[in-house]
Amino acid sequence: MNKKITGNIIITGASRGLGKAIAEKFAENNHNLYLSSRNEMALYKTMEELQTKFPSITIKAKPFDLSKSEEAKAMGEWILSLGISIDILINNAGNFLPGNVHDEKEGTLEEMINVNLYSAYHLTRTLLPKMMKQDFTTGSRGHIFNMCSIASLKAYGNGGSYSISKFALAGFSKNLREEMKQHFIKVTAVYPGAVYTDSWIGSGIDEKRIMEARDIADMIFASSQLSPQATVEEIIVRPQLGDL
Ligand SMILES: NC(=O)c1ccc[n+]([C@@H]2O[C@H](COP(=O)([O-])OP(=O)(O)OC[C@H]3O[C@@H](n4cnc5c(N)ncnc54)[C@H](OP(=O)(O)O)[C@@H]3O)[C@@H](O)[C@H]2O)c1
Repeated sequence: MNKKITGNIIITGASRGLGKAIAEKFAENNHNLYLSSRNEMALYKTMEELQTKFPSITIKAKPFDLSKSEEAKAMGEWILSLGISIDILINNAGNFLPGNVHDEKEGTLEEMINVNLYSAYHLTRTLLPKMMKQDFTTGSRGHIFNMCSIASLKAYGNGGSYSISKFALAGFSKNLREEMKQHFIKVTAVYPGAVYTDSWIGSGIDEKRIMEARDIADMIFASSQLSPQATVEEIIVRPQLGDL
């Protein structure tokens, strides 16, 4: 017997890494998935893999380059055109360019802000009017997660514009939290330390020294399960041995 579907989850950057692990966690718990990333082939491969594993849920995917404001808005329009309730939005897409303010390549800040901040800002703004009209007071869910980073909380070597953009995303998340209280839409800023994903392949870092993508997915899922009157405002998770 098919289990009851428990919500619609929109995840950006879902083709691999944290986004894929989060998608899998919600799929295991009978949620429909609406996924995006840039590379079409990788995205559809992930969609097919999840659909084979979880045949009873609906999974839809569409590629967008969210670093372009018009594409971030287009992703929002795509979701709106599906006519679904928007239960959980996970702004996860992001990119890391190492560097230092004093010598990183010209344009690095713009590139980091485009992909790590404006992506979430424009997509969220496109979806908010509909979310704000939904009635979340009766126990159904309205929740936005923003994938910040430990680099949103402290400066570190080789952080440069990446860290600046993640501080800005944390500011976005804090402001949204204030604005959405009265609309019963929860907002959670997620601040992971190092998590072993493709970004770390070839870095020489031992996989077991840092966290697994599943650790972050478990924390996000758990935070989405509280009563309507409780909000986890911040999730800070670090490797047991601390930051690298
Ligand atoms: N891994 C860590 O240690 C760590 C720690 C703290 C925070 N984070 C944050 O967690 C998020 C996910 O990180 P991850 O390690 O899972 O990264 P990842 O393995 O590199 O995956 C990034 C995902 O985002 C998508 N993406 C990248 N640029 C995009 C764009 N312009 N438009 C749309 N989608 C885009 C990628 O797909 P395409 O390339 O096909 O677009 C991919 O699906 C990021 O925001 C990252 O900053 C990661």
